[in-house]
Amino acid sequence: MRKKIVAGNWKMNTDLHEGLELAKAVEEASQGKKRDAIVIIAPPFTHLAKISEVISDVKLSAQNCASEESGAFTGEVSPAMLRSSGAEYVIIGHSERRTYYHEENVVLNRKMRLAVSNGLKPVFCCGEMLEEREAGVLFDVIKEQLKVGLDGLSEKDIANVVIAYEPVWAIGTGVTASPDQAQEMHRFIRDVLEELFGHDVAASTTILYGGSCKPSNAKELFSNPDVDGGLIGGASLKAEDFIQIVNAF
Ligand code: 13P
Repeated sequence: MRKKIVAGNWKMNTDLHEGLELAKAVEEASQGKKRDAIVIIAPPFTHLAKISEVISDVKLSAQNCASEESGAFTGEVSPAMLRSSGAEYVIIGHSERRTYYHEENVVLNRKMRLAVSNGLKPVFCCGEMLEEREAGVLFDVIKEQLKVGLDGLSEKDIANVVIAYEPVWAIGTGVTASPDQAQEMHRFIRDVLEELFGHDVAASTTILYGGSCKPSNAKELFSNPDVDGGLIGGASLKAEDFIQIVNAF
């Protein structure tokens, strides 16, 4: 059985006070509920340690990590620092990091290796731009992101990796991939994982969909056989909306 996950990526939103309130509201709504899905929140770095004190059912993720272990890298935050601040997961390769901070597949691979070797569970993002979809190269793009990004990871490492498919044209645009488009790409991602790591790994890896996922479309998206949950941006900033998405399972 694959793990179902609903993760909220808060991006660069909320101050510490607002973040704590949001985390508490999500925790309160989650507590004591027997549900299939693991609930994760990914607040900004500055909130992690404090938020880790107010959640227990809800799991904690960072949104990024450094590609180096430690040392003279001003402004960077290492996987070990994240672990010691209470994070269990880390988002790696979000398209906003790829686009605005020019993080390419090779550097993302370094982050992946470092994250797993420090005991973090990476949520590895992949996704094509609209031009790439229109030019018909979407599958090549995703395959390259996976091949390079996951290079050198062992089967044991991959057991702790979550994949998130986030078509760039669907992020923050209100345009959601159709359930068929999501299923088609998730199936393809699973096939690539099978090619790279074998059938068992592919069958047991959680693959999330991200991009304008909201309470009104979550159920339909999550009902696809290869969609194991969602990585939620805007709708994760309101506890009620986020929990409604969690309850779509
Ligand atoms: P939106 O849900 O706001 O489209 O963002 C998706 C996303 O980028 C999650 O990482």
